[in-house]
Amino acid sequence: MKRLVILSGAGMSAESGIRTFRDMNGLWEEYDVMEVASIEAWHKNPELLLRFYNDRRKQMINSQPNRGHLLLAQLEEFYDVQIITQNVDDLHERAGSSKVLHLHGELTKARSSKYPSLVYQLDNPEMKMGDLCEKGSQLRPHIVWFGEEVPEMDKAIKITRSADILCVIGTSLNVYPAAGLVNFAPAGIPVFLIDPNPPAHLPRHIRVISEKAGAGVDILCQKLQDAV
Ligand code: APR
Repeated sequence: MKRLVILSGAGMSAESGIRTFRDMNGLWEEYDVMEVASIEAWHKNPELLLRFYNDRRKQMINSQPNRGHLLLAQLEEFYDVQIITQNVDDLHERAGSSKVLHLHGELTKARSSKYPSLVYQLDNPEMKMGDLCEKGSQLRPHIVWFGEEVPEMDKAIKITRSADILCVIGTSLNVYPAAGLVNFAPAGIPVFLIDPNPPAHLPRHIRVISEKAGAGVDILCQKLQDAV
């Protein structure tokens, strides 16, 4: 089976009602990213960050995978689909995708603020000060904040290097190192990008599908079928 690698961003979940970051009415229009999504902010005001991620977790729980998520999951019938996502929601998994690598963490998990290898599946969507890991340290959201390393990056590069086909969906390609992944695609493979407002200055070989994720993945499926 050919390996189809997907690099998804916030636009993938937009039709599920989850806000993107840098669009009109995006999350970073309402919040200062360094106040709610940086390691410095965690040290300064952990309660604020727990509330911020509690709100996003509740929104995720009340959202459903959209047509784009579902179509990607269905493609597993024909391709070895490996999803690398910048998203921290679990919509790819809930749609049925079986290989999902989260570069920026997962809302469904918490980890020890002192022992990062201690990661826990969250049963209760509300985290609060005083929730402790088994060694007695405060639990924090299992999210990669600005100013922190991206531990899964090497794995993501390896997967991207092994792609037969690459499709970028719903990301402004603003945030590195994730945005740099496209450069690790093997030369000459088909590279698609699905976005209603595609980032400017894309390399010429990228085949742009200027649609939202749902319609865009539908078109991608057609193109893949025509190419067989
Ligand atoms: N379908 C597809 N793409 C969409 C849709 C949609 N329905 N709606 C918006 N988009 C596109 C926008 O045009 C934009 O290019 O999704 C992209 C969203 O870009 P950002 O808001 O910057 O989100 P993302 O690229 O995922 O951000 C990367 O930044 O703040 C950090 O950690 C956070 O993972 C996030 C990272």
